[in-house]
Amino acid sequence: MNQSNENAQPLLQMRGIHKWFGRVHALRGVDFDIDRHEIVGLCGDNGAGKSTLIKVISGYHRAEQGQMFFEGQEVRFSSPREARALGIETVYQDQALAPHLSVARNIFMGREPTMALGLMDQKLMNDQSMQALANIGLHLRSPNVMISNLSGGQRQGVAIARAIHFKAKLVILDEPTIALAVKEVREVLDFVRRLKSEGVAVIFITHTLHHIFDVADRIVVLAHGEKIADIPTRETTVDELSDIIVRGTYGD
Ligand SMILES: Nc1ncnc2c1ncn2[C@@H]1O[C@H](COP(=O)(O)OP(=O)(O)OP(=O)(O)O)[C@@H](O)[C@H]1O
Ligand SMILES: [Mg+2]
Repeated sequence: MNQSNENAQPLLQMRGIHKWFGRVHALRGVDFDIDRHEIVGLCGDNGAGKSTLIKVISGYHRAEQGQMFFEGQEVRFSSPREARALGIETVYQDQALAPHLSVARNIFMGREPTMALGLMDQKLMNDQSMQALANIGLHLRSPNVMISNLSGGQRQGVAIARAIHFKAKLVILDEPTIALAVKEVREVLDFVRRLKSEGVAVIFITHTLHHIFDVADRIVVLAHGEKIADIPTRETTVDELSDIIVRGTYGD
C-alpha cells in the first residue's frame, strides 16, 4: 500500500458495535472513526456508553457484534495488552500510575530497559524520562520525584509523556480533567495539544464541554448507547452541544 492511501484511511474505524452487560444494552450499533492527528471529544450523559466504547477500543471489553479496523486491518482485542502493542494507550485518572514509585519508574513501568545481568538501566530511564516530560512542556525537579507528590495535572502529564515516549498512535483520556483545579485543567489541555502536534490521535471524554471545546477537532455525542451527533467543533457551540446532550437527540 502506498503512503497516500495509508494516510487517507482513518486510523480507527468501528462499525455497528454492540455491547451488552447482561440485559443492559450499553452500545447499540455505534459507528466511530478517528483519523491520525485528530482530537475527538466524546460526550454524553451519565451511562450513555462513553467508557464502554473506549474500553472496547482499548481491549478491556469485547463487543458482541460489530467490526473494528485499526490502520485498515480488522482487529479483535482480547486484552488491553494487545491494543497497547498496536499503539493504543488509555490514560485513566486513577489507575494510570503507581503513586509510590518515581516518575521515571512510572514512565517505564513494564518496559524497563536492562543492562548486563538483567539489571535495570536506571540512568537511561532517568535521562529519557526527563526528556519525555520536557517534550510535553512538563519540567520536574528530578526523575526520582514520587508520583504521590505531583499535582493531578502533572500526573496526567506523566501518563501522556509515557504514551508519546512509547510511540502511541491513539491516546484515550477518560475524564482527565475531572477533579482538577483550573490551572491544572489548562496544563492537561496543553498536553493534549502536544500529543496532536506529535501526530498522535486523541479521544477525550468529558462532561465539561468547555474543557474540550478549544482542543477538539470534532465532537461525538452518545445517548443511551447510540451515537446521536458527530459534528466538527467549529460548526457547533457549547450551548448547542449541551442542549443535544440534555435532550438526548439531535436534528429532530
Ligand atoms: N462492567 C459493567 N457491568 C454492568 N454494566 C455496566 C458495566 N459497565 C457499564 N455498564 C452499564 O453500561 C451503561 C453504559 O455505561 P458507561 O460506563 O459506558 O457510561 P458513561 O457514558 O461512561 O457514563 P459516565 O459519564 O457516568 O462515566 C450503563 O448503563 C452502565 O450501568
Ligand atoms: Mg464513564
